Amino acid sequence: MKILVTGAAGFIASRVVERLLKEGHEVIGVDDFDIYYSRGQKEKNLMPVLLHPKFKLIEDNLATMALVTVLKGTEAVIHLAAQPGVRGSWGSSFHRYVTNNIQVTQRLLEESKANKLKRFVYASSSSVYGDVGEVLNEEMKCQPKSPYGVTKLAAEHLCQLYNLEYKMPTVSLRFFSVYGPGQRPDMAFHRFCQNIIHEAPMTIYGDGKQIRDFTYVDDVVEIIAASLLAEVVGQVINVGGGSPATLLEAAALLEEISGKTSPKTFLERQKGDVFSTRADTAKLERLFGSKPKMSLKEGLAREWEWMKKFVQSEDEEKAIKSNVQIIGGADEADLAEAKAEAKSHRKAKLKAKAGKNSKPAPDNSSSDSEAPES
Ligand SMILES: NC(=O)c1ccc[n+]([C@@H]2O[C@H](COP(=O)([O-])OP(=O)(O)OC[C@H]3O[C@@H](n4cnc5c(N)ncnc54)[C@H](O)[C@@H]3O)[C@@H](O)[C@H]2O)c1
Repeated sequence: MKILVTGAAGFIASRVVERLLKEGHEVIGVDDFDIYYSRGQKEKNLMPVLLHPKFKLIEDNLATMALVTVLKGTEAVIHLAAQPGVRGSWGSSFHRYVTNNIQVTQRLLEESKANKLKRFVYASSSSVYGDVGEVLNEEMKCQPKSPYGVTKLAAEHLCQLYNLEYKMPTVSLRFFSVYGPGQRPDMAFHRFCQNIIHEAPMTIYGDGKQIRDFTYVDDVVEIIAASLLAEVVGQVINVGGGSPATLLEAAALLEEISGKTSPKTFLERQKGDVFSTRADTAKLERLFGSKPKMSLKEGLAREWEWMKKFVQSEDEEKAIKSNVQIIGGADEADLAEAKAEAKSHRKAKLKAKAGKNSKPAPDNSSSDSEAPES
């Protein structure tokens, strides 16, 4: 199949791309490397697939780019691009959520009408529920508690509308706190690992007793890949049920895995932070015949291993940059040259690593991390 994956450089999407390429699909990835978090992390996400002959990356903004050419001949769209994060969705950044979550989804649906798509998979979120119950099932009335949740729900409704009125083969998958290698830096496990490595206190919003249904990234990827063929058109489905735990329990597990303890700093509960998100997975199991299976301990151990390597490579890059600054006493031209040299050195390193990783594509045996938001 020829598949468009949006937000391809992101945490979940980059692993989806890897998986689809392993299955022999042709993949077009679109990502604008938005500024929500570092470009460096996103480039690393894509390293294993960058040189794959069946992968094409387009760096552009889905809110403004011409979609006709990208969608031509595309048989499925896996739409993961979004502005994530519950905390940041309050206040003046809200326009980013409206554009990247609602308008981009509407554009993609509208432009896909002319194509005979086999599937349009939309990445929804447990944040659409709000505090409506302890165990959340798809029949419950959604009452999002954050502006982020509102935009994710609005886009889910758009998918339903295009399914009803234009027979668009949409399916909305509601992800629950995804964690694993490559996790976004704003999410709790990523931050906790950083805190442990840098011997800093763990910062926890609220009392840490909030429950999350932590779901390992490769379990999510498995369901996304299966949704291309499963009989799920028109459905909204929870993708969670991996490992419910409180944040404090998860933090303690990380301490056990790393062999290091870390003091905790408790910060004010964040607006929009719900008490409990646990997924009812009856529908997921009925439609896919499976559910997430990774234990939190094993998943966290994989995230921890990834994180150690990630921090080490970040430190190396910082060292290269600081070398450049030492030369900074020289004139502008020297400085520019030194910077360009450091950049090309870094690029060559990335390419070399990507080359090494792309043949054969590495086994998906790593993965980890995540926090109380989505
Ligand atoms: N991570 C979770 O726990 C979680 C939980 C529930 C739902 N989700 C949903 O899953 C999806 C992926 O989440 P993630 O954690 O991998 O996020 P991510 O931020 O790592 O990935 C999103 C990617 O989309 C790109 N993007 C954003 N706006 C774009 C635009 N206008 N044009 C092109 N690219 C754009 C970003 O640059 C980023 O690389 C999102 O839709 C998110 O709402 C994630």
